[in-house]
Amino acid sequence: MIGGARHLYVHLPFCAHRCGYCDFVTVVGRSGQHRAYVDALLQELELERKLVGEQLETVFLGGGTPTFTFQQELTRLLEALPRAEEVTVEANPETVTPELAGALYATGVNRVSLGAQSFRPRLLEVLERVAQPDDVRRAVHHLRDAGFDNISLDLIYGIPGQSAADLEADLDDALALEPEHLSCYELEAKPGTRFTHAWGAELERQADAMEDYFERVVARLTDAGYRWYETANFCRADAEGRDLRARHNLAYWLGHDYLGLGIGAVSTIENRRWRNTPRLGRYLEALAAGRPPERELEPLDGEVRARERVMLGLRLDEPLPLRGLRSALDADGVVRAEQLGLAVDSGETLALTRRGRFLGGGVTAEIVA
Ligand SMILES: C[S@@+](CC[C@H](N)C(=O)[O-])C[C@H]1O[C@@H](n2cnc3c(N)ncnc32)[C@H](O)[C@@H]1O
Ligand code: SF4
Repeated sequence: MIGGARHLYVHLPFCAHRCGYCDFVTVVGRSGQHRAYVDALLQELELERKLVGEQLETVFLGGGTPTFTFQQELTRLLEALPRAEEVTVEANPETVTPELAGALYATGVNRVSLGAQSFRPRLLEVLERVAQPDDVRRAVHHLRDAGFDNISLDLIYGIPGQSAADLEADLDDALALEPEHLSCYELEAKPGTRFTHAWGAELERQADAMEDYFERVVARLTDAGYRWYETANFCRADAEGRDLRARHNLAYWLGHDYLGLGIGAVSTIENRRWRNTPRLGRYLEALAAGRPPERELEPLDGEVRARERVMLGLRLDEPLPLRGLRSALDADGVVRAEQLGLAVDSGETLALTRRGRFLGGGVTAEIVA
């Protein structure tokens, strides 16, 4: 293959405890296995080295809670991974000590994404979070002191019991920390989970307010000077002219190839996509024996990738160049969306209007063939 993928995702699944709303691939504790897991990740990288280019644009360590990983192992991993222009680590606020912040910075991490979720203690309790609002503030200060000039905060809205005033207060508290980047996600409650069982009735009562909450998020953050560059993502315009969009996630939205390492990690390389086994024991066993882990394979073709490119590309605030993508569009759907003032087809590009972006997935579903 030519060049190889330029984006690497590394999954670190360990967490101190499991938050009720979360359905990511995580395992609680297991401090005895952190070392073996890092060995396995490096072994998997070794096996797949030919799939990634010499020069990487981005490396992203996601979780789980990467910063819950035994610090010596996290540092060993970061030192062994290929260099990249953007290196992001997801961190839970309560794990960020001055030592950890310094160690991340020293190993070349240049972006930290902090899971704040909310600044209201009552709502953090509903989410079963460990961190308190002051932990988020302290984490940002430790990261700044260590030298970080690219910090992102994650917020969740639609938490059971969250009023519009609570949301506005969360946005104010987040903005007061002057993060370079913010991700604001509507709470997704998976059917059948303990969380949904406990809060289902309240979530149903709140459902109608979610469009208004989304509009409040966008209005408050764009008024504060942030660019609404992707449905759920916002970045500051930097005085030095830096582009502060999340480059790693941008690669997903632009349909670029990436390699994923670790349990549950997904890779997309040319016409193949695979997902590693989510089972820690099986993963460790295979790599200790020098074999790739079990994987679910999904063959891709040009049409599937073109449709994905449209669905993801329309989440961005820049018009989507349509070269090679027309066949992925439903021509009648595009006309209907234009007539409703939800999309603009310039012939060479397609973009959603502001209203279209608020309606998001519903509009895209109409437009994609
Ligand atoms: C991979 S998660 C884990 C990050 C980190 N362990 C934490 O808890 O902060 C990344 C982000 O996804 C978001 N997220 C996780 N579960 C979600 C859910 N059910 N609905 C909406 N957002 C969710 C949260 O904002 C979280 O910070
Ligand atoms: S700490 Fe993050 S990844 Fe771990 S269970 Fe909670 S939300 Fe999920």
